[in-house]
Amino acid sequence: MSNNGYSIIDHTYDVVVVGAGGAGLRATMGLAAAGLKTACITKVFPTRSHTVAAQGGIGAALGNMAEDRWEWHMYDTVKGSDWLGDQDAIEYMCRQAVPAVLELEHFGVPFSRTADGKIYQRPFGGHMRNYGEAPVQRACAAADRTGHAILHTLYQQALKNHAEFFVEYFAIDLMMDDSGACRGVVAWNLDDGTIHRFQAQTTVLATGGYGRAYFSCTSAHTCTGDGNAMVLRAGLPVQDHEFIQFHPTGIYGSGCLITEGARGEGGYLTNSEGERFMERYAPTAKDLASRDVVSRSMTIEIRDGRGVGAERDHILLHLEHLGAEVLLQRLPGITETARIFSGVDATKEPIPVLPTVHYNMGGIPTNHHGEALNPSDKDPDAICPGLMAVGECGSASVHGANRLGTNSLLDLVVFGRAAALRCADKLKPGASLPPLPKDASDLALSRIDRLRHAKGGRPTADIRLEMQRNMQVNAAVFRTQEVLAEGCAKIDQVWDSLGDIRLSDRSMIWNSDLVEALELENLMACAKTSLYSAEARKESRGAHAREDFPDRDDETWMKHSLAWMDGQGTVTLTYRPVHAFTLTNEAEYIKPQTRVY
Ligand code: FUM
Repeated sequence: MSNNGYSIIDHTYDVVVVGAGGAGLRATMGLAAAGLKTACITKVFPTRSHTVAAQGGIGAALGNMAEDRWEWHMYDTVKGSDWLGDQDAIEYMCRQAVPAVLELEHFGVPFSRTADGKIYQRPFGGHMRNYGEAPVQRACAAADRTGHAILHTLYQQALKNHAEFFVEYFAIDLMMDDSGACRGVVAWNLDDGTIHRFQAQTTVLATGGYGRAYFSCTSAHTCTGDGNAMVLRAGLPVQDHEFIQFHPTGIYGSGCLITEGARGEGGYLTNSEGERFMERYAPTAKDLASRDVVSRSMTIEIRDGRGVGAERDHILLHLEHLGAEVLLQRLPGITETARIFSGVDATKEPIPVLPTVHYNMGGIPTNHHGEALNPSDKDPDAICPGLMAVGECGSASVHGANRLGTNSLLDLVVFGRAAALRCADKLKPGASLPPLPKDASDLALSRIDRLRHAKGGRPTADIRLEMQRNMQVNAAVFRTQEVLAEGCAKIDQVWDSLGDIRLSDRSMIWNSDLVEALELENLMACAKTSLYSAEARKESRGAHAREDFPDRDDETWMKHSLAWMDGQGTVTLTYRPVHAFTLTNEAEYIKPQTRVY
């Protein structure tokens, strides 16, 4: 079929998955294994997805090193979330963690081993034994390349189960019908410029985070919030976008990740006085406090003049005392990364580090099955038929205001699997699909048309840089009303400058400028909703640290932010209650407490 001069190819599937990182692949393999005709479309080759960069481990209370329990994991996750996490979903994730990791082992993930052959587990920030008593070894690790090991294994499993892959296809927009149901997705084949409409009973978004809205982040260049922005353009909300995690140990300058597993193996941070300052901020967990706490402590040290280096603007991470053998066996990847990106031999000298944007706690609101929500006052848990979201683009919400390290790989496999199980339960393989609405692809095609022919004055890269600098300064570790309000005003201006964008190459084949412009629009939607949600939230909770509102305010703010955006970029905020209940009566609701480590 042809439309506006575009060559359009139609496909029908039972389920289409967008994204081939850990969550997308776990969903894809589960769907295909359940006999559902499944397509996975991905803008990069599956094993280049950003999950490949996850290092330190996947959390599960296996108890291989010492006693551990899923109830302790659940407690740590609720506490880590600063009581913004939905406790039903957290219970589900922490209970499913143990079978999910054993399943990965059986799929073939090459985990590191203990002397007696069990999966090796290391300590990680915020994971404690017996409800906060002392650090526990819960992170199941494949050296410091755990994401790489999991991603490759899941891709092999998906191929084994005959899932169909559409590689280097860029998803542009969802196809919605008049009833508000999702009917599939429009994608652009980068190789030959053709447009493809994937119609399906269910569309699963697994598009990852939007770290690239910032100037410095640990995220791949592909992390551009494509799914979150598609949902906003479809008239659905995103949730809790103000909660953006800074990982304490990005390499100073390049932002490359040095795994928290480095501190799990005994690494520690020092300031310019050589002091192990985390002992002052978190007397029990010290360097293994949760990430928001460590990142804030490092920022305070630097602000108070105790940073290191000529500019006194960073901190040192010591691993040299661990010895070359441990580094080679347990942390080979980051030893190499430190050498390449900071010129440091980690066996001999400390690594210069700085808190760096790492993860989006918020995303597309879902229930614990991965079904996307279309909340209203009447029904805050109403679902959007035909649409699911899993992984970093989803918000189940198991991470609330701050995610614990290792819970992201866990989130990917648990909710990727949950989405596949839900589809297997609800969908009939091969069920006939109603005809698509006539205007199903209009939104996607009009975006491409507008951008392809954009003849304004500003290159994409220029506008992107302005957005990234704004986010870096105005949505940082510490926030105030003044800085956030300025951030909102500036992002509005940057948004307006999208109308003045200039693209260099009008061809539809391998047009990297067009890809970047489409990605920039997606990033901008994420940046805008993040800043507006942050400006509105007048409290401090998890990663959202307001100097003007330093306390958590459960009475007013124990609720999820929902941000909606119209075609002009106007953001409207509403709220929905946190699920302050568990899924089964085998778990007790964990009442809000003061959060100390
Ligand atoms: O530090 C790390 O290895 C990152 C893990 C995570 O974000 O879960």
